Amino acid sequence: MNLYASISQRKSCRKYNLQPLEEDMLANIEQAIKSFKLLSPDIPITWRFTNQVKGLYHVEAPHYLIISGQGKAKEKECTGFLFQQLVLWFDAMGIGCVWLGEAKDAETSHNKSDIITIAFGKVNEPLHRTKEQFKRKPIETITNATDDICMQAVRFAPSGMNTQPWYFEKLEDTVLVYKRKLKPPISLIYKHSDIDMGIALCHYYLACKEMGKPFHFSHDTSLPKKAKLLSFGIIT
Ligand SMILES: Cc1cc2nc3c(=O)[nH]c(=O)nc-3n(C[C@H](O)[C@H](O)[C@H](O)COP(=O)(O)O)c2cc1C
Repeated sequence: MNLYASISQRKSCRKYNLQPLEEDMLANIEQAIKSFKLLSPDIPITWRFTNQVKGLYHVEAPHYLIISGQGKAKEKECTGFLFQQLVLWFDAMGIGCVWLGEAKDAETSHNKSDIITIAFGKVNEPLHRTKEQFKRKPIETITNATDDICMQAVRFAPSGMNTQPWYFEKLEDTVLVYKRKLKPPISLIYKHSDIDMGIALCHYYLACKEMGKPFHFSHDTSLPKKAKLLSFGIIT
């Protein structure tokens, strides 16, 4: 399955046909998740399906996937990286989805280590869009390498409240990855920027794979300082 092609056509879907997907498809989803690349294989991430969630910015859908960790550092970016591959896989399979930052499992008592939810199912709206229909920051505000295909894939990455908190600085052999500090009032209410960073890294990785380039990410909090940016990691 070529997930790269879905990067420039996917969109968040919020109008679902509430008919459940076939059981076979749910099994396929499980297999697909097992096949995806992990950002840090030593960080355990688990997930489960549920049919009902509650909370702010609710989207009615036939299925939800709840992703959990163990409260460890780095699990949010690992979640974004792993499950953005599922988001793109859904797109390629003709299934709509949307990340839900505030949804809580309504079927079991809320698990404190739940990280985020993805709603998914067949949709009652167009599944795809054109590149021109993406609402994103100009590329020069997210990287110095504006003609680089991998950076263009990062630009299409989704993020909570469309904050797009990433900055990728290309040097000769490496890419320095920074996270933008959010400003109030958004910084007071939005806490998922590390998931967004994982999503952006996922798009970068899939573009590297498509171009036949290597992708190795390591966390690094000691990059050269830059105003309004926090050091996040290095890609080699
Ligand atoms: C971590 C995260 C949390 C999100 N939370 C919500 C949400 O609670 N409700 C919602 O409708 N959309 C949510 N979204 C979807 C974003 O609003 C959407 O990705 C962004 O506006 C860009 O639009 P696009 O996905 O169509 O490219 C979330 C996205 C991410 C990555």
